[in-house]
Amino acid sequence: MMWPLAVALAVLCAGVHRAQAQTLDGADIMALAEGFVLTADSRPKPDPSNRLAGNPDAEALGEQLFFDPGLSADGATSCATCHVTDGAFVPNESRRAGAERAFRTVMPVAGAAYQTFFTWDGGKDSLWSQALVPLEHPDEHGFSRTEIAAYVLDQYGTSIAALEAGLAEQADLLRGLPPASPIGTLAQRQAWDALDPATRDRVDALFVLTGKAIAAYEAALPPPLSTWDRLVAEAEGDPGRMPQDVLRGFTVFTGTGRCSTCHSGPLFSDGDFHNTGVPAVEGQPVDMGRQATVGPLRRSPFNCLGPHSDAAKSDCADLTYISMAMERTLGTFRTPSLRGVSLRGPFAHAGQLPTLRAVIDHYVTAPLGPHGRMIGVDTMSELVPLTMTEQQKADLIAFLETL
Ligand code: HEC
Ligand code: HEC
Repeated sequence: MMWPLAVALAVLCAGVHRAQAQTLDGADIMALAEGFVLTADSRPKPDPSNRLAGNPDAEALGEQLFFDPGLSADGATSCATCHVTDGAFVPNESRRAGAERAFRTVMPVAGAAYQTFFTWDGGKDSLWSQALVPLEHPDEHGFSRTEIAAYVLDQYGTSIAALEAGLAEQADLLRGLPPASPIGTLAQRQAWDALDPATRDRVDALFVLTGKAIAAYEAALPPPLSTWDRLVAEAEGDPGRMPQDVLRGFTVFTGTGRCSTCHSGPLFSDGDFHNTGVPAVEGQPVDMGRQATVGPLRRSPFNCLGPHSDAAKSDCADLTYISMAMERTLGTFRTPSLRGVSLRGPFAHAGQLPTLRAVIDHYVTAPLGPHGRMIGVDTMSELVPLTMTEQQKADLIAFLETL
């Protein structure tokens, strides 16, 4: 019963796409373009799980923490080490994380606050819980939880005391602790187990506050307005005032190319997870994408429903109703925002696609991808092969370069 309906829908959708590409006249195309524009006063929705979001003192503390190399085991790694900012907060290069995460590309921080789930596989459901990961990750900041608590108290005690009464008191108790963490090395985990529960709670509270301050800062970082935003604003609804290759590229993007089915809205992302059949990296295990993180996310003490969240249970519907279904998770990755895309690369979650041209060719050929054969089906990829002329590809690139 379901299958013919799905086919009928697919045919219908394809028809709509074709019709859209062919019949949009100038005014319509500019009206459509407006839906992909950010303005200077665009703001992401506030994160109810972070009471410090929007607090200027927390944002100021978060900025200091983001750039502080002291917040790491080697005293030389800060968030800005990998999130190359160049003042614009769009990484110009995909500096790769070490060993275990060698196959993941760095993601832009500016504009991330518009998302609901973070990182390529959506393993975290808030910016603050995401920020805690690199701090304790052995290949990134490599700090332990007790060291983080002691360090932030030492360096930022006054700011912390102003943000949360009581947290900076009894600092002396935390200073002499051994490196300890519930997710660290064996020695660190044993040291963590040996701490009394009240001390663990205190360390966790400082750890979480560090994440929430960093997140407050990140949430206040808008993606820089782009050439695209400017072009559409300046055209004032007149398609004749747009560079014609860019306008044609946008028509391909929203029409024949089907790109906007996933790269939708002003962020060029539906915030959802899709399997697009991106090839595995040679010599690396196949990346399971969301499949590997959806369970741990539901169990995490740092999620929206956990004890450290400031959200009401009703604010956490995205987590409560998260899909565990194989077809929604296996090999699925979050649709990345395309803002600033031509400033970065190589592309996709592990940099498998070296250029924008290679990305487009990937969408045109729609390969099966590595995940289907794991569960005995031809493909898990949602892509369908496309027909695109050389001119359309060039136009599409001209459009992407304005983002
Ligand atoms: C060693 C390099 C490295 C360091 C240091 C680092 N990151 Fe990242 N960051 C990455 C990589 C790689 C990803 C993609 C991770 C993934 O998908 O697993 C990422 C992803 C992110 C994202 C997700 C963006 C999105 O749209 O979902 C945010 C936010 C972020 N990092 C913030 C931070 C913060 C805050 C710090 C400092 C506490 C930090 N990062 C330190 C490499 C790094
Ligand atoms: C079915 C949803 C979907 C469609 C349709 C789609 N994309 Fe994507 N796009 C994604 C996802 C998901 C990723 C990340 C894939 C990965 O890393 O495995 C991605 C990645 C990309 C990237 C890499 C961005 C980066 O930061 O590395 C570019 C560029 C891109 N898409 C452009 C396009 C263009 C152009 C089209 C139309 C020809 C298109 N996409 C169609 C979902 C989609």
